[in-house]
Amino acid sequence: MTGGRKQKIRIARSQDPQPRRSAPPAPGQAPAADPGYFVPRPAALPGRLDNLRALTKPGVRGFPEVDAAQALLVQTMRKDRVRGEVLDLSAMGGLTGSLGGVTLRAVEGSAAALSVLEAAGLQAHAAVPGDVLTGRWPERPRTVALVLAGDRGNAYAQAQVAWAHACTPPGGTLYLAGDRDKGFDRYVRAAGNAFGTGETVARDGGMRVARLIRRPGPTPPFPEAEGYEAFGVKVVGLPGVFSASRPDKATTLMLEHLSALELRGQAVLDLGCGAGLIGAWAAARGAAVTLVDGDLQSVRSSEATLRASGVEGEVLHSDVDAALGERTFDVVLTNPPFHVGRGVVLDVAREFIAAAARRLRPGGTLYLVANDPLPYELPMGKVGPVREAVRQGGFKVLSATRPG
Ligand SMILES: C[S@@+](CC[C@H](N)C(=O)[O-])C[C@H]1O[C@@H](n2cnc3c(N)ncnc32)[C@H](O)[C@@H]1O
Repeated sequence: MTGGRKQKIRIARSQDPQPRRSAPPAPGQAPAADPGYFVPRPAALPGRLDNLRALTKPGVRGFPEVDAAQALLVQTMRKDRVRGEVLDLSAMGGLTGSLGGVTLRAVEGSAAALSVLEAAGLQAHAAVPGDVLTGRWPERPRTVALVLAGDRGNAYAQAQVAWAHACTPPGGTLYLAGDRDKGFDRYVRAAGNAFGTGETVARDGGMRVARLIRRPGPTPPFPEAEGYEAFGVKVVGLPGVFSASRPDKATTLMLEHLSALELRGQAVLDLGCGAGLIGAWAAARGAAVTLVDGDLQSVRSSEATLRASGVEGEVLHSDVDAALGERTFDVVLTNPPFHVGRGVVLDVAREFIAAAARRLRPGGTLYLVANDPLPYELPMGKVGPVREAVRQGGFKVLSATRPG
């Protein structure tokens, strides 16, 4: 993942940073074995949230801890003695639901988070900003909670604020959390204009929580989709989706490099499809394509891209390959993610490669593009011999073919 600009990459290994509050193994005792990518486990909580609980797994924001903004949000709600039904529009690992006296209505767009919410016995609802929730819960609850994903850009945060407004009844309260360094003050001002009143009530490091009471009034407009045309397809980029307004430089390098690849009649997997450029490109070249993304907004974006491009394909909301059943492929194409929230985390990218190894038919090939320094050659060796096809502009395209 590149976001189109040069960046310094500091790589955190999956077992580091250690959860801040986890007890070290006793002398002579082996450290706990890694339970594996898909297994939900208790999230490490800061001491001030003692007696609360949440699950997590790789791919959930904040892993292996709880997201710092959500931690402050829940701490603030506990101080305010919030009780009754709470609609949490960014439920992550279900921390809000462990507040005493709270009945959680959990909403999430992340397939990884939905899997841990399910493991916690919470019947979460998969939705994105703008979705109407009254079909699922006809009465709007008087308390709504939301963590702004400032790292997903201005349009997404605006859509989140508009959604929170639409979901809060007049007289109801919104607890809004976010990161000062990701535009929180700006979004609170926008939310304050829409809600009529509200102020920041808690601060911890860069994290902030505002409490807003909704007065009657219109919901602000939702931002429009962006998009572009490239490689013979029409991409529809919904707010918050990776490279929504222009093709990513790394993806561009990979598609240029693969321009002579014969795909007609091939089963192709676009793993981590974002707005769907790669999958639509492969479909336009005659492949039978499956696109997957763990982010529901990206799934919606890819569906729109296939429609706008006049090509067919299957788009699945899936934590890596969890929703793929028995499907196998001749070609896997990916520009894997290495950010979940703030830090550089490679657990998800490594699982992308492991999934390619599981899903490729004998003789099938994984093509992967990444920033130069990212160490994907070793895990890709499990697929087959690794080739560096091209290295240019800070990126490299690697391939590995499963022995036939
Ligand atoms: C670097 S972007 C690439 C998007 C698109 N393929 C492109 O080239 O423009 C990586 C994508 O992986 C998705 N992703 C992140 N974690 C995932 C997970 N656990 N399972 C499936 N997809 C995930 C992100 O939502 C994002 O769309």
